Amino acid sequence: MSADATHQKRPTVAVLATGGTIAGDTADATQTASYKAGVFSVERLLSAIPALDGIAEIYAEQIASIDSKDLDDALWITLTHRVNTLLMQNNIDGLVIAHGTDTLEETAYWLHLTVASIKPVVLTAAMRPFTALSADGSLNLLNAVTLAAHPDAVARGVLVAFANRIHGARDITKISTYAVDAFASPESGILGWIQDGRVEFQRLVTRAHTMQSVFKINAIDTQYALPAVQIVVSHAGASRLVVDTLVNARICGIVVAGTGNGSVHVRLQQALADARARGVAVVRSSRVGSGHVMRNGAAPDDALGLVSAGTLNPYKARVLLILALTHGWGEPVMLQSLFDQY
Ligand code: SIN
Repeated sequence: MSADATHQKRPTVAVLATGGTIAGDTADATQTASYKAGVFSVERLLSAIPALDGIAEIYAEQIASIDSKDLDDALWITLTHRVNTLLMQNNIDGLVIAHGTDTLEETAYWLHLTVASIKPVVLTAAMRPFTALSADGSLNLLNAVTLAAHPDAVARGVLVAFANRIHGARDITKISTYAVDAFASPESGILGWIQDGRVEFQRLVTRAHTMQSVFKINAIDTQYALPAVQIVVSHAGASRLVVDTLVNARICGIVVAGTGNGSVHVRLQQALADARARGVAVVRSSRVGSGHVMRNGAAPDDALGLVSAGTLNPYKARVLLILALTHGWGEPVMLQSLFDQY
């Protein structure tokens, strides 16, 4: 057999860029807090990583050039459509999205529930701009492509490659405003790691995602306004003002970021019960950052028609609630079963 016949074809990985610090520019390489996100093109980011050549054939596309704090519904819808279209192509084996760190966890979970493919989808980002000293983006991007090209990453839902770790989309959350290792997966832990070209998974994803997800947005275009869902925080001295204002503005759903195990200030709880009585879907999550919210624990969910977010943080609970309401599933029993499944 000739050397050519035994030569394995490199996988093809699509890299979609959306902006973020990974594409950010700082006027002074020593400054990592004041800079402009989303400046450099995907081609420029990729050209800084010659080692990619040995890993995969790259197909690159610039989807947006934003600071992810400004992300809107239209970008989520665009990403889902583009990812699904690309992954249906036989010549694409996996896909990477370069994103900002600030809302990465929300986009990752949105795609986890709306992408219909078993092929790897890996988000990555950076804490230091592209032009900063010791910028972390290039190695994160290299690791993300390595993961997206790896057969072990198939059928695990949407993944995040960051600081040598592999996180699941449902569990990952940003835990530091400045540290290079800025993400964690509290409670469940990371899925595995990537280092020097090696990929190792240590645990499975158990909740439903991608191919098992009931959420389909194929028929929705970028002009479509997703159901309005806002997050309200419970805190010392909380009042009903925000909830009443939202209800008067015809909000569809509210996620409350409760204290502790999803407990809610007595004034806010009454306002949420009244909102529910007027048809607003209300989900109880926690502002704590790890742990779960027990149904009928710190609040009488059955009596008030509320739903417990379980282990989903308020930002991800908002994603799931938007998708449920998009499908017309706003009643507490149905909603609770979705929160128990996803
Ligand atoms: C952003 O989220 O786009 C800016 C911040 C970052 O990427 O770290």
